[in-house]
Amino acid sequence: MDSPFGLLAELTYRCPLACSYCSNPLNMGDYQDELATDEWLRVLAEASDLGVLQCHLSGGEPLLRRDLVEIVAGAHGLGLYTNLVTSALGLSRPRAERLRAAGLDHVQISIQAHEAALSDRIAGIPSFQRKIEAMGLVKELGWPLTMNVVLHRHNIDRVADVLELAEKVGADRVELANTQYYGWAWRNRDALLPTRAQLKAAEVVVRATRERLRERMDVVYVIPDYYSRYPKPCMGGWASRQLTVTPNGDVLPCPAAQSLPLPRASVREDPLERIWAESPVMTAFRGTDWMPEPCRSCPRRELDYGGCRCQAFLLTGDAARTDPVCHLSPDHDLVARAVEAANADSRPDDLPLIPRPHRARRPTHLPGGAD
Ligand SMILES: C[S@@+](CC[C@H](N)C(=O)[O-])C[C@H]1O[C@@H](n2cnc3c(N)ncnc32)[C@H](O)[C@@H]1O
Ligand code: SF4
Ligand code: SF4
Repeated sequence: MDSPFGLLAELTYRCPLACSYCSNPLNMGDYQDELATDEWLRVLAEASDLGVLQCHLSGGEPLLRRDLVEIVAGAHGLGLYTNLVTSALGLSRPRAERLRAAGLDHVQISIQAHEAALSDRIAGIPSFQRKIEAMGLVKELGWPLTMNVVLHRHNIDRVADVLELAEKVGADRVELANTQYYGWAWRNRDALLPTRAQLKAAEVVVRATRERLRERMDVVYVIPDYYSRYPKPCMGGWASRQLTVTPNGDVLPCPAAQSLPLPRASVREDPLERIWAESPVMTAFRGTDWMPEPCRSCPRRELDYGGCRCQAFLLTGDAARTDPVCHLSPDHDLVARAVEAANADSRPDDLPLIPRPHRARRPTHLPGGAD
C-alpha cells in the first residue's frame, strides 16, 4: 500500500452558483454538519503525517468558509502545497491578500464559457465579470493561475474562444475538462453529452493551440471518456495516491464515491491513518484482486485499473463491474446507447437542464463575521 500524495479537502458543499454540470452529490443536505476549523486543522496534520504533500481546497465554494485563511495557514505551516479550487466568487482583494500572506500556493478558477451571457447562463447567476477580475487579481498577487472550464454540449463549440480568453487573462495552465458524469452532471447527462462532431472539432483546436502556446501555457485536455475505447485510470487506482475528505468528515478515495454502498469512514470517529489502511471504503477496490473478467486477465489492468468504480455503479448498479466505458465491458452497450442518442438526428436541440440548487447558508456552529 502506497502513501497518499494528494488530499482533496471539500470544505463545504454550499455554493452561490448553480452549474448543471456540477459533480457535487445530489444529497448535499446530508453534509451540512461541516467540520469546524480545529477539526480541519487536525485532518491536515493527520494527512501530512500520512505522507500527503498537496492539498486541494475545494467544495462547493471554499471561499464561503470564513476560516479559509486559517485553514490555508495551517496547511502551509505543515509544509503542504496548497491549491484553492474556486469559482472565485468571494475573492475580494483583502481576502486574496490575506490568503497570500497565509501561504496559499496556487489558485484554480473555473469559468463556464468565454463570454458573459453564456457563462452566466451556465453558472445560473451573473458571475463572469467577477471571475475575470479575480483572475487579474490572482496574477497581480503573483500566484500561478489555472483556468478551468468544464466542457459539454453547450460550450464546447467555443473552445477556441475559451483558449483565447485563457491567453488574455495570462493563465499559466488551462484545464479543459470534459464533463465527468457524477452528481448533477449524471442527472443532466443526456442534456450535456456533446456530439462526436463537436468533440472532433474541439480536439483539432486544442491540438493546434497546445502546439502554438507550448512555451507559454500548459493546455490540459481531460478526455471525454464516453467516447474513448478505454476508461480513464480513475484517481490512478482506487485509494492508491489520493484521498478526499467531504465537508462532514467522511473519507473517500474520490469525491464521487459517496454514491457507493460502502460503509462510511469518518475523521470524527477514526484517525486518517487507520481509515487509509483498513477501512472497507479504502480497501474495497484497492489493487487488482477484486477485478472481474474481462479486467482480471487483461494486460491493461494495471494501466487503467478497470476504470471508474463510481461510473460502473451509476451505470450498472454494481461497483465491482468493469467500467462500461471500456469497449470490452459486457455492459458497454449502456454507454454506446447514450452516445448514439446524443448523436441522433431526432434529438431535440435543447433538452432541459436541472440546475444544482444554490445553497449558501452557513451552519450555525461555524465562524461568522465579515470576509
Ligand atoms: C466541484 S468544483 C468546486 C470548486 C468551485 N466551486 C468551482 O466550481 O470551481 C471543483 C472542480 O471540479 C470541476 N467540475 C465540477 N463538475 C464537474 C464535472 N461534472 N466534470 C468535470 N469537472 C467538474 C469544477 O469546474 C472545478 O474546477
Ligand atoms: S455549482 Fe459550479 S461553482 Fe458551485 S461547486 Fe458546483 S461546479 Fe463549483
Ligand atoms: S477490460 Fe478492464 S483492464 Fe482491460 S481495458 Fe477494459 S477496463 Fe481496462
